[in-house]
Amino acid sequence: METSIQSLFDAAKRARENAHAPYSSFKVGAAIETQSGDIFAGCNVENVAYPEGTCAEAGAIAHLVASQGKQQITAVLVIADCDEPITPCGGCRQKLAEFGSGETRVYLAGLDGLKGQTTLAEILPGAFSQSHLEG
Ligand code: THU
Repeated sequence: METSIQSLFDAAKRARENAHAPYSSFKVGAAIETQSGDIFAGCNVENVAYPEGTCAEAGAIAHLVASQGKQQITAVLVIADCDEPITPCGGCRQKLAEFGSGETRVYLAGLDGLKGQTTLAEILPGAFSQSHLEG
């Protein structure tokens, strides 16, 4: 695995271990990389009031913004324990688009390694963006 992907994988896997998922028993980890090469990780944090739970990607984005403010996301890696690699949910695709671009690399991983690779443009065609607000 390329060094930066390995770093994303390690950070996401470590964060996943801290996931709070007593309701779904489905632990997810995510790690995002900024243009400067910094990595921020997150995990899913569920809540007894189910809709209040947050995804791993949202946690990683919050971690980034709290640490460094607005930065460009160049890559994201999502990790879960399943045969078919999971992709970010619809809401998280839009959240990633806020700080990423169509070229943002999206890596999909299982516990034993990388299982797939795509881009934000591929998984979020027709993204709602600032240009739509401008009419
Ligand atoms: N989950 C994530 O953290 N990221 C995703 O992209 C998909 C789903 C979490 C939410 C919930 O805690 C659990 O996985 C089951 O849906």
